[in-house]
Amino acid sequence: MRVLVVGGGGREHALAWTIAASPLVERLWCAPGNPGIAAEAECAPVAAEDVDGLAGLAGRERMDLVVVGPEAPLAAGLADRLRQDGIPVFGPDRAAARLESSKAFMKDLARRAGIPTAGFAVFDDADAALAHIRGRGAPAVVKADGLAAGKGVTVAATVEEAEAAVRAAMIERAFGEAGAKVVIEDCLAGEEVSAFALADGERVLMLETAQDYKRAGEGDTGPNTGGMGSHSPAPPVTPELAARIENEIFLPAVRQMAADGTPYRGVLFAGLMIEDGEPKLLEFNVRFGDPETQALMLRLRSDLLPALMAAAEGNLAHVDLRWSEESSVCVVMANRGYPGQYERGGEIAGLNRLPDGVTVFHAGTAAGESGRVLAAGGRVLGVCAAGATRGEARALAYRGVDAIDWPGAFCRRDIAQTGA
Ligand code: AMP
Ligand code: GLY
Repeated sequence: MRVLVVGGGGREHALAWTIAASPLVERLWCAPGNPGIAAEAECAPVAAEDVDGLAGLAGRERMDLVVVGPEAPLAAGLADRLRQDGIPVFGPDRAAARLESSKAFMKDLARRAGIPTAGFAVFDDADAALAHIRGRGAPAVVKADGLAAGKGVTVAATVEEAEAAVRAAMIERAFGEAGAKVVIEDCLAGEEVSAFALADGERVLMLETAQDYKRAGEGDTGPNTGGMGSHSPAPPVTPELAARIENEIFLPAVRQMAADGTPYRGVLFAGLMIEDGEPKLLEFNVRFGDPETQALMLRLRSDLLPALMAAAEGNLAHVDLRWSEESSVCVVMANRGYPGQYERGGEIAGLNRLPDGVTVFHAGTAAGESGRVLAAGGRVLGVCAAGATRGEARALAYRGVDAIDWPGAFCRRDIAQTGA
């Protein structure tokens, strides 16, 4: 098979690494890729948001499957375009990608499908939203409706904070048009879990679970980030809870989408809050999680490619995936200063003398002269390892971190130490 992975971050490196191991692959591309992905795939200089450019590449190279990593091209209609061109694609059409690109759409679907989720109200008028907050009180969660690069959610402890979040989104338009509408939700308590399922329009196949660490600082302090680490499996998810997540969250969503005439094909990522063993849906994403995917792929023992193809072609019924019983851990190394200002271009050495069993996925790296690897983005590397216990996986991942010589880096030292 000729396969194209779209994207250029750590998630896409993990996907390309996994797909490259498939005996079914004849040629693997990634657009735009990164220097780490270049070891697994041919990197094509086409941006992940360039729908025309990607469709052109897929057509020219007669791709048998396109696997879309990030949400932006899905929300922009990349999957619709490829399906129109007769190219199999793993990822939902634009209409189904609204599960992530509109939080109001997601909440309405959850309500109609009977999926447990926080109580909510939707507003497209700032005065009405402010009045609602004053009436309901705090805490409250204020969410910009549209895609806001992970910055559109405020968990407000006070009425003033919630009001400020509404003003920022709706009046100051801090997230552009994404904040023209807001969802105001009840605040849920509990432990967060990331659950994943492949969907083929009708059926779902649950994958393993994971947890990620969103705050920049140890002990879950400091600003929100794209994710500073992850581990798999998620300890709160027993086999019984996994079955409930499948039956109460994923299946009703996929069935409702089919009934609405917008069948969901691709991976569905449910951000869940687990309180007293009860799963509640915080959000759907229409893509794999980053950095959860890095930890997940380390535990996958089956060939992923036939499963992705089956989801793309509406044919998941006979697919089964095997997972290792081990735990896996991913520690993100970021440029010091991230998620605020940071310097780019620091040299990363030591990647060729990692301890056995350590796998490094590149996120924000760039190629320097004579094979040098440079730190180019905020989150730069995902240093991953597996072990019989989470503690062993964690110890090995941090030995990997310590083998990397990059003075401008920082990482959290407490990834996988606590429940999440
Ligand atoms: P989202 O982009 O919807 O995942 O929200 C980002 C983060 O905000 C989540 O990972 C949670 O930590 C938090 N969050 C979102 N919705 C709620 C809620 N209803 N109650 C408590 N925390 C929430
Ligand atoms: N790790 C959370 C996300 O990918 O959105």
